[in-house]
Amino acid sequence: MFLWVLVCWLLFCCLPAIQVICGTHLPGTVVPRKTVPYNDDTMTLFRVDDVQNYSSMLLREDLGLLLLGAREAVYALDMRNISHKKTEVQWSVTHDEQVDCTNKGKNSHDCWNYIRVLHALKDGKMYVCGTNAFSPACNFMTYEEGKLSLQNKKEDGKGKCPFDPHQRYASLMVDDVLYSATTMNFLGSEPVLLRSFSTTTLRTEFKATWLNEPRFISMEEVPESQGSTVGDDDKVYLFFNEVAVEYDFYSKLTVSRVARVCKGDMGGQRTLQKKWTSFLKARLDCPVLQPSLPFLLQDVFLWRDSDWRKSVFYAVFTSQSGSADLSAVCAYNVEDVSQIFSKEKFKTPVAVETSHNKWVMYSGELPVPRPGACIDDTARQQGIRSSLDLPDKVLQFVQTRPLMDPAAQPLSGGPLLVKRGALVTRIAVVSVAALDGQNYTVMFIGTDNGFVEKAVNYNGETFIIEEIQLFSQPVPIEVLRLSVTTGYLYASSSYGAAQVPLSTCGRYRSCIDCVLARDPYCAWDVNESSCTTLAPSQSLQTGNLIQSVKDADASQCPNPGPVERENVTFTMGSSVKLSCRRGSNQAVVHWLRDNQLLNRSSGGYMYDDGLLIPKASAATAGQYECQSVESPKGRKYYTTLAVYQLLKEGEGEKLTPPQPEAQAQGHRLLTLWVVVGVLSTALGVLLVWNLYHGHFCLPGCTCTRNPPSSPCRATPAQMYLAPEGASGVTLLPDPNSNNNHCEVTFGGSAQVPSSYSAKHCSLVLQYIDDESEI
Ligand SMILES: *[C@@H]1O[C@H](CO)[C@@H](O)[C@H](O)[C@H]1NC(C)=O
Ligand SMILES: *[C@@H]1O[C@H](CO)[C@@H](O)[C@H](O)[C@H]1NC(C)=O
Ligand SMILES: *[C@@H]1O[C@H](CO)[C@@H](O)[C@H](O)[C@H]1NC(C)=O
Ligand SMILES: *[C@@H]1O[C@H](CO)[C@@H](O)[C@H](O)[C@H]1NC(C)=O
Ligand SMILES: *[C@@H]1O[C@H](CO)[C@@H](O)[C@H](O)[C@H]1NC(C)=O
Ligand SMILES: *[C@@H]1O[C@H](CO)[C@@H](O)[C@H](O)[C@H]1NC(C)=O
Repeated sequence: MFLWVLVCWLLFCCLPAIQVICGTHLPGTVVPRKTVPYNDDTMTLFRVDDVQNYSSMLLREDLGLLLLGAREAVYALDMRNISHKKTEVQWSVTHDEQVDCTNKGKNSHDCWNYIRVLHALKDGKMYVCGTNAFSPACNFMTYEEGKLSLQNKKEDGKGKCPFDPHQRYASLMVDDVLYSATTMNFLGSEPVLLRSFSTTTLRTEFKATWLNEPRFISMEEVPESQGSTVGDDDKVYLFFNEVAVEYDFYSKLTVSRVARVCKGDMGGQRTLQKKWTSFLKARLDCPVLQPSLPFLLQDVFLWRDSDWRKSVFYAVFTSQSGSADLSAVCAYNVEDVSQIFSKEKFKTPVAVETSHNKWVMYSGELPVPRPGACIDDTARQQGIRSSLDLPDKVLQFVQTRPLMDPAAQPLSGGPLLVKRGALVTRIAVVSVAALDGQNYTVMFIGTDNGFVEKAVNYNGETFIIEEIQLFSQPVPIEVLRLSVTTGYLYASSSYGAAQVPLSTCGRYRSCIDCVLARDPYCAWDVNESSCTTLAPSQSLQTGNLIQSVKDADASQCPNPGPVERENVTFTMGSSVKLSCRRGSNQAVVHWLRDNQLLNRSSGGYMYDDGLLIPKASAATAGQYECQSVESPKGRKYYTTLAVYQLLKEGEGEKLTPPQPEAQAQGHRLLTLWVVVGVLSTALGVLLVWNLYHGHFCLPGCTCTRNPPSSPCRATPAQMYLAPEGASGVTLLPDPNSNNNHCEVTFGGSAQVPSSYSAKHCSLVLQYIDDESEI
């Protein structure tokens, strides 16, 4: 029995360490409440055999089409059912082009035409570019009479589309003017932000101070001329990562940037001829763990308000140090970002003795008009009608100092969400009106293993409603788009494209489940006894609807009524399995036998899927109830998931549950106690022996022989402790564990001392080791 105390102690002392390692103490990390597995019937997939790399997408709501660019083909799919292909067009490289590409030393897999750029033009045509076997090309495409066709106007795609299909790029079409950020040359060494199809083609200076080994992420247009009192111009924002010039770091340090240009820029007259005169950039910070290397940008979504000043850039970041699998979402107010460029100080290089430049804040006089500013009313009053009229000293200033001194900081100072596990790749955001009359933003976040997470932030509290597995393969999500018109989210990857509804309220079967989902789209309809999707105008007539997104308060829910009892007959000595799957990753499952909390002495094993009674005896008979307990915001909600009546074979006809003589039962129980005691001691010894020999390893404990490479991933997803400080502790790996959340579930009132650390664990381990050898 002493051993038992030690094993318990060992488990308890490790638990705080597990929590630390698993990141529950990291601000904002949360586990998705529901996991929706692949091939749920709400999902629609599109994929053509032998065609890969579906990595560009264009939604044409005017035509009801989703255009999908893949390797050597563009598909036109029905937006309401993407598995319905309307038409397609092939655009293949010729054999000669392919041979030429491989002769230049490129991998034959990359010597295809990967469609990368897809834009709609004002006249309804489309503009398409592909990598074309490392010789980028563009073309116009039409959709007429149900047919897609490419026009015979193939043009050079240099600067508009990458040469290398593995390289990130950014591209935007505004009023038939194309903005593209990619590399200009075969080697991929000459980055550029290019504007084509306008009266003046403009590009960036080829200088490390402008773009230094950048990885382009995305571009967005912001209509800043709207409601401007100073006659400001519209802007195009570019997001990228690049090697920082402003840090003295022992190796190259990459940082995230936001840059912007004015739409009306015409370039300079002598200085900066055919170059941007308004290219300014600033660091983009998303402070997660401090101190650490800055997190790097992966995608940006501009959530547009009718007033651009209230619009928000939602950006996803991942950790730069390879060992930490952390991702974060940060949000930036567009006006705050804009003001950095229009009001704040610049950085300037100063030569230091060691022949390199150090970047410091520029505190001298600024030339007039302000360098990098768009042409506004004040400039026009001074006779400067376009950037061509700007004085040389203004242009020389921006040419050498495009970097702003302050960094763009997220709203509320920190990330909206921090996530451990699969890295985040893409984000899309939508605003939803809830029953309380307020609008809430819902974030859809794509991961590198084929999932999308649906997350909300209520008054600073992040909540992940669900995670949906979109692809059978663990492929990174490469495009994420949503359409409010159709109510669908579209995603694509190298494997295929997927379509899911923005909400699937019908998935919530009970009122408590529906309300605790905290999905602003869903409310429980008391009349219909179903979880329904809110219609946009429904927010006023709240009579028969229940929703509580901010408070997760399900106390208004009507009593669901009794759950139908299922009869299970067993033969003596056989094993009985009662299934019960918890409806939420945040719930804890309890089993009750004859209305008493089941404890270890009953000889059952609780696991993720249900309850296993390995050797049924007469005492096994009785009523078993599986209960799920979810405790959002300190309130506990109990849901009965299943009720079983266990009947010994042959007793099925007798109506009442077996009530044997009290003494006989007591006797049997005593025997059971002894058997279980012996068995669990054996298990304990085995556990300790295994631990010592490193056959398996408790997370958080220092494992001398076989340290797990990633403690969180190596952990069996579930660990159940017997309630009421019972005499037994069972550690069972979750047989269905395929998710990599690390969670520890406490059953009953197990208490966890918090003052122990991982260091104690190894000490205890050592101590037990001595014990067991005695
Ligand atoms: C979607 O389209 C496919 C192929 O045309 C068809 O088989 C399927 O039934 C459609 N699904 C729905 C929900 O209409
Ligand atoms: C194309 O898809 C395959 C897998 O389907 C992947 O291995 C490859 O890297 C992808 N190529 C590009 C250029 O994205
Ligand atoms: C919610 O959004 C709608 C549509 O954008 C808008 O008309 C309404 O005023 C917003 N409501 C609130 C409370 O902000
Ligand atoms: C809900 O039920 C109430 C009372 O039965 C009824 O007055 C009301 O019209 C019903 N509402 C709907 C939307 O069916
Ligand atoms: C375990 O359950 C049995 C009845 O199922 C009960 O008599 C006993 O007191 C319980 N033990 C503990 C420690 O709660
Ligand atoms: C379960 O067995 C009882 C008798 O013990 C019987 O009355 C009842 O109808 C059975 N229920 C079902 C669903 O078979």
